[in-house]
Amino acid sequence: MKTINFTMPANYPLQSYRDRFHTVVDQVEVATHKDKMIYRITYSKLLLPGYFVVEDENGSNVGSFIHHCEANQEGKSCVHLGAAVILAEDLGVPLKKITVKTLSSHIEKHPYQDLEYTTIETTIKAVEPPSSVKIPRSKGKSASQNWKEGWKEIEQYLTSQNFTRGMIGAVQEKRKHVCDKVSLQPICTPPIKPVFPYEGEILARAVRHVISGRDLLLVGGKGTGKDTLCSTLAWIFGLPLLLVTGNVDETRESVVGGAGFKDNQTTFEKSPFTQCLEQGGITHYAELNMMSGDVTSIFHSVLDDNKVLPTPNGVIKRHPHHLFIGSINLGEGYAGVKTLNDALKDRLAVIHLPYAKNFRGMIERKTGVTSASILSLLEKVRSAIKRLISEENQGDSADTIRGYIAAAEHLQKFGTTEDIKAEALEDFIVNRVEDLDERMAVRQAVRLAWAEFPVNDEEEHYEGGY
Ligand SMILES: Nc1ncnc2c1ncn2[C@@H]1O[C@H](COP(=O)(O)OP(=O)(O)OP(=O)(O)O)[C@@H](O)[C@H]1O
Ligand SMILES: [Mg+2]
Repeated sequence: MKTINFTMPANYPLQSYRDRFHTVVDQVEVATHKDKMIYRITYSKLLLPGYFVVEDENGSNVGSFIHHCEANQEGKSCVHLGAAVILAEDLGVPLKKITVKTLSSHIEKHPYQDLEYTTIETTIKAVEPPSSVKIPRSKGKSASQNWKEGWKEIEQYLTSQNFTRGMIGAVQEKRKHVCDKVSLQPICTPPIKPVFPYEGEILARAVRHVISGRDLLLVGGKGTGKDTLCSTLAWIFGLPLLLVTGNVDETRESVVGGAGFKDNQTTFEKSPFTQCLEQGGITHYAELNMMSGDVTSIFHSVLDDNKVLPTPNGVIKRHPHHLFIGSINLGEGYAGVKTLNDALKDRLAVIHLPYAKNFRGMIERKTGVTSASILSLLEKVRSAIKRLISEENQGDSADTIRGYIAAAEHLQKFGTTEDIKAEALEDFIVNRVEDLDERMAVRQAVRLAWAEFPVNDEEEHYEGGY
């Protein structure tokens, strides 16, 4: 345990911590203890709370912060301290000291652990995190859009992705037209900022195609950001987004719409795709190659110069701001996957998505985990598994960005003891491999990154040899 005096560096990213406060903090509670006020901060991604302690010092209130996390123990600043700084500002109490605890001393009975706490509402104005799962759908009637709303943030993001002034101007122009002509419809997800927008050079490439009115086919392995790219394009251009997942049972009728009944009469009920096509927005057809060529041929006249969809009720004209994005996962032994029909491919700009280049930076930004020991462990494991894949063609299923994200969050939350490390690597990475021999090879590869990776029962009894 060590206590240090805290002075805020001139370049401390206050606004960023303020914006992220409610993403980082689950709740704040308060209790009194002797002459002190104790604010307990529960973090969403950390097992143990932090305590902001307010006491009187020579007639005025001062605050100290008691906390443990990996980054902190390595002498680095962390989002948890950032949140405490914002709370201190909110309470109007200067933060003077930080006590950094080791994990065990923080877990052991803590003087502030069993106080009678009551939850308080902080007045902190922060952007509520948009959830990637529960995205609000626009209800009922259509709603018009204002291109200026949120534009500053889009501009900042495009600048961070090295867009030139000219390109940003072109995005702005297209966004103005879209917001003018496309309103939010109940069947689509409104264009909102993704929790973590797409990062990488492919963005500019996709944006250029969208500006030129081209439709896209995204080709990439699992977790290369196909969905993320679609929701990012939706956000920056103001295009409502409809996600459809192709499947083997899809028919031309299910794509276009089918017969319905109204007032004792047969009517034609448009499918969500048909509605989106007519009203404008992005239709993202994921796993397009699950559908048969007979069915996808319905898209041909939509995607060529005809720009119409044939339906049982006559042709439907495509909205000028309708964008079709198909995506396919390559290199996976999915049952039912078909080679995409050439005539369909021919109508699309085909973009190959690479795995994120800056793996470590992405995990860091995406999860908020800054601990060097966690990040380098994961980085080493990943390169060992990548080597196994390229040299021995084994371990493909363990090549998983989602797994590394989950492992980083797990290690940050539960600590980096040997058991927790093994648990995170097994449950989020190694055990994704179903074949026994292959899984054993992956375990060996992990050992190249972390020599002490424990031998488990299965491995002990494994007789296949290496
Ligand atoms: N280039 C990238 N920029 C931002 N996030 C990325 C990028 N690549 C991967 N990710 C992250 O990886 C995770 C998976 O991304 P996403 O769901 O977009 O992939 P996907 O290609 O649709 O995967 P799948 O084929 O498995 O459906 C997300 O958490 C996403 O934030
Ligand atoms: Mg996806």
